[in-house]
Amino acid sequence: MAEAAVTMHMDKGLDHTIIGESTKSFIDGQNGVLEYLGIDIDDLARNSTFEEVVFLLWNDRLPSADELESLKSELRAEYELGSELLGMLRLVPADASPMHMLRTMVSAMGTMDADCDDQSLESERRKAIKVLAKTPAIIAAFSRLRKGEEPVAPRADLDIATNFLWMLNDEMPGAASARAIDVSLVLHADHGINASTFAAMVTIATQSDMYSALTSAIGTLRGPLHGGANERVMRMLQEIGDIDSVDAFVQESLASKRKIMGFGHRVYKALDPRAKYLRTFAKQIADETGNHELYEMSTRIQDIMEREVGSKGIYPNVDFYSATTYYSLGLEIDLFTPVFALSRNAGWAAHVLEQHQDNRLIRPRCQYTGPHGVAYTPMSDR
Ligand code: SDX
Repeated sequence: MAEAAVTMHMDKGLDHTIIGESTKSFIDGQNGVLEYLGIDIDDLARNSTFEEVVFLLWNDRLPSADELESLKSELRAEYELGSELLGMLRLVPADASPMHMLRTMVSAMGTMDADCDDQSLESERRKAIKVLAKTPAIIAAFSRLRKGEEPVAPRADLDIATNFLWMLNDEMPGAASARAIDVSLVLHADHGINASTFAAMVTIATQSDMYSALTSAIGTLRGPLHGGANERVMRMLQEIGDIDSVDAFVQESLASKRKIMGFGHRVYKALDPRAKYLRTFAKQIADETGNHELYEMSTRIQDIMEREVGSKGIYPNVDFYSATTYYSLGLEIDLFTPVFALSRNAGWAAHVLEQHQDNRLIRPRCQYTGPHGVAYTPMSDR
């Protein structure tokens, strides 16, 4: 039967395609605005916590005090990795990329969950709780194991940000460091239909499962054009070396069309509001530590880029100042993107649960440009 005549249009990169409706994040790319459920990201960064933002994204409203405590209890009950998962983690090569490790471990969680194929909304939410609660311990334990140190057990009396630094360093973090990580998790929690969220949605739209969807998302976030940029920003700053080398580096990069990591965005054509907030953090930490060089190099790069390409809508994105912030907090560079994933588990799960409730298989087309009517050539004739 002939296909109904519908208008198809090519939109490589899906720049101009809306794939559905969502209540989770509002992004105004022209004016640099980000809201979660209508609440401005700056208000959330100043007043909220990561656990509260998880509730907001998953329930489309802020929690009552009791509801927040209940969510925290659910998460803390799942902090422990358990012997099976920890045993699997010990098998991961010490020199593995932490993002490959994280993708493998989240996928492994699916093999250890008897309800993995229970597709009820409650079951998918429970799996998201497990991944969100265990990701900090997975990252921290891997970081220690690859250095020959034993993992530090999570503490059920700590929030996610504090617990992560505790498990990473085997010492209680200062309030300022714990708050810096907590705010960073708030800032990275969701961002509309970015590449990794889209990957998660495509996966769940086939009626697959939460573990598979989050595994797809982690694999997608890893790329340097997406979440992998924060690690590359730090390596770029190390390559530049000092403030006096910034100008030449940026000019040579622009002249050779080499992209400056941490700049540009498919949606923002103004300053990413998250970068604005992270910049203030990087400054605070520089003032507290007395080490201003990275911050000054970063602001110098921003000044030059805004002068040279600001008119093209190229501004710092979330990854530019998160690099300096994480480095100043003592995070190993190759853990920057896993920390992004730790936070984005909240947004990925929110969109997966949203897609699950009003699902339609996501299956675009492509323009066939190959030949037609080609005869099969037997091997003897080739
Ligand atoms: C994240 O989608 C999201 O929401 C993602 C994210 C989230 O929260 O999930 O916000 C997180 O992924 C942030 C982006 C992190 N990536 C980087 O920092 C990598 C560097 N950035 C670029 O690769 C680029 O800006 C992208 C990939 C982010 C966006 O690229 P687009 O929309 O495909 O735009 P493009 O590559 O076609 O560039 C348009 C123009 C080009 O110049 P012309 O050929 O038109 O002359 O802008 C230039 C590009 O050369 N350009 C840059 C640049 N980014 C774009 N020039 C120098 N440095 C850059 N970083």
